[in-house]
Amino acid sequence: MALIGVFDSGVGGLSILDEALRQLPEHDYIYLADSANAPYGEKSSDWIAARSLELCRHLASQGCDAIVVACNTATAEAIKQIRETLSIPIIGVEPGIKPAAMQSHNNIVGVLATEATLKSDKFNALLNTLPNNCQFIKQAGAGLVPLIESGKADSEETLELLAKHLEPIQDAGADTLVLGCTHYPFLRKSIRKLLGESITLIDTSDAVVRQLKRQLEPLQKEGWLKNYGSVLLLSSKDDASLLQMAQELMSADLSLHSVEAHILGKTR
Ligand code: DGL
Repeated sequence: MALIGVFDSGVGGLSILDEALRQLPEHDYIYLADSANAPYGEKSSDWIAARSLELCRHLASQGCDAIVVACNTATAEAIKQIRETLSIPIIGVEPGIKPAAMQSHNNIVGVLATEATLKSDKFNALLNTLPNNCQFIKQAGAGLVPLIESGKADSEETLELLAKHLEPIQDAGADTLVLGCTHYPFLRKSIRKLLGESITLIDTSDAVVRQLKRQLEPLQKEGWLKNYGSVLLLSSKDDASLLQMAQELMSADLSLHSVEAHILGKTR
């Protein structure tokens, strides 16, 4: 099997790791959460690019065969540089505005993402490739990531802040909402409470993992026979809390894998 690095500013990328464990449970994973520095979404482009590159270099130095940059913000600001620097497959995450435009019936799509993602050249270039018959209501989810990082995804406080952010999207009558930050799939319950069941939620984790699978095909080695690989969780802030959040937020059965959590720098 392969060793796959998954990197995010914090616990958001666990939504991608969850899908990866569902589709590709046989591989070994290192999940790196830079929670000491989350949220990235309100930091400068240069800072995000430099830090993301540094952490992906670290994952590569641990022997990763591929890295998933499981963060829309880091993908927007750093993926080009990461790909230029490292010679392994690097898979990024982008807000699913294209599938959203295709699935929307009334051509009104809400996009909830970080401020950095929405301002980035990469996101705006992607937006420009889409036909302009679709209206995109872009909203930065300021303050949501710290609440999710502190285990309050389902709290009243989060619901209130989310209601404020979703108001313009709701007022515009959007029938589709793009979850443009990997932390936001963990807000599904609250989003459904506020917007109801009929709105289509677009989350790209399935597409990202399918892309990872394609990238791993040429690397197939004899004897990829293990059923369940290991999961190493690395946090720049608090390893015990990362482990606890992984158990709470993910639907994958972690007991099938050998799981360890460490502080970044202490091991690997
Ligand atoms: N999870 C991240 C994303 O997908 C970033 C959140 C943040 O740190 O602001 O954009």
